[in-house]
Amino acid sequence: MPRITPQTLCDMKLRGEKFSCVTAYDATFAGIIDQAGIEAILVGDSLGMVLQGHRDTLAVSITDMAYHISAARRGSGDALLIGDMPFMSYATLTDTLNNSALLMRAGAQMVKLEGGTWLCPSIEALSARGIPVCAHLGLTPQSVNALGGFRVQGKTPEAARRIIDEAKAVEAAGATLLVIECVPRSLARDITRLVSIPVIGIGAGPETDGQVLVLHDLLGLNPKPPRFVQDFMAGQSSIAGAIAAFGAAVKSGTFPAAQHCFDG
Ligand code: KIV
Repeated sequence: MPRITPQTLCDMKLRGEKFSCVTAYDATFAGIIDQAGIEAILVGDSLGMVLQGHRDTLAVSITDMAYHISAARRGSGDALLIGDMPFMSYATLTDTLNNSALLMRAGAQMVKLEGGTWLCPSIEALSARGIPVCAHLGLTPQSVNALGGFRVQGKTPEAARRIIDEAKAVEAAGATLLVIECVPRSLARDITRLVSIPVIGIGAGPETDGQVLVLHDLLGLNPKPPRFVQDFMAGQSSIAGAIAAFGAAVKSGTFPAAQHCFDG
């Protein structure tokens, strides 16, 4: 696999070729995911839940993220390595710049931030300084307390309009990738068509340019998996096989299927 960059994903979007992303938090799994031909690895703050055992992602610190990014970097090869900015690490512009520098120095090639219009000055500042940005809209887990739980977003016409406007705003500010989480399939489809940057969906239906899943979910390790998850370990005899099966299902368009989608 040639080295994957944000431009690679943009070219894939233009060709209508689907790509996939899996979370990893250490060298061993990052290596397996990379070898399976998955285009992007996200060192997500989901590590707060799947590694640290918290109920949400709020306890994760920038030090935790830098530690896991540097481990994943050592194991990965050509996949694009995205580092998640944890809760409150980008609350001010100064924090955003200093903390994203920590993650880039740890080995991230791009940083991911949750939020829309309010983040645009930060996205502009990061892009101007050569730091590629992935924005994250829809269900933004760091706002779980404000959202009243891990709920599907964008269900009313007004809420859908707001998310569309935010997607356009983060693109205009310079984001080169966009994660959309837990929204109706039709909304994710519209956003994917309306922006020119690649859109990665999770719980957002099959029409986005790419798909991301949390590693532990796709390996069937979550005792209470969300509706949008498929256990790719089923029928496989190895972890590498399960991850490759996820990549193949995304490429062929067989994942996500109707039962993994939310309606408007
Ligand atoms: O932290 C994470 O793993 C994420 C994905 C679920 C998109 O943000």
